[in-house]
Amino acid sequence: MDQEEKQKRFEAMKAIRDELVGFATSPLFEYRTKNGYFPVVGEGSHFARVMFVGEAPGETEAKTGKPFCGASGRVLDECFAHIGMPRLDAYVTNIVKDRPPGNRDPELDEILLYSPFLDRQIEIIQPHVIATLGRFSMDYIMKKFNRGTDLRAISKIHGQVFEVEAPYGKIKILPLYHPAATIYNRATREDLFRDFEKLKTLIND
Ligand code: URA
Repeated sequence: MDQEEKQKRFEAMKAIRDELVGFATSPLFEYRTKNGYFPVVGEGSHFARVMFVGEAPGETEAKTGKPFCGASGRVLDECFAHIGMPRLDAYVTNIVKDRPPGNRDPELDEILLYSPFLDRQIEIIQPHVIATLGRFSMDYIMKKFNRGTDLRAISKIHGQVFEVEAPYGKIKILPLYHPAATIYNRATREDLFRDFEKLKTLIND
């Protein structure tokens, strides 16, 4: 791997982390600092072929600074194990980088405020596949790549591949159920596992 490029990506990601740490204008900043939480930047390879985008950190994630390390993360780990892929070969992040109080859904303003960080992460990593986890990231990523008119309920379009043009070349978007939606629902869990099998075929396309 090119050392210079590796260093460049590392520095660019570190700049994002530093900005997030000091993001005092965010409405979620006070809640973070009051609770001793961390922003959750993301985790994995800066050269990942696939990037996973969730919603926002939950409590376990905010306490540790790592994405998907609570109950949803355990489901995600099982999905990676199912396709025999080391999780750290991918890059896992969220749209909103701070925990919304009480695990409520992220608000539109928060998505708008934090999405430029995600946009920069996509530019740094240049993933070949973006797998969205749940409705919020599906909506954001599909619209970002001008496929808003193809949006349907996640139950209808999970596992479908959308080819789009990124500034660095053609990429694929794969909407997936959010792992939390599969914790008490065996049918969606099986769908998620099957969609991961599809993902495996896309990664090296
Ligand atoms: N749910 C998310 O969307 N992201 C996390 O990191 C954890 C739970």
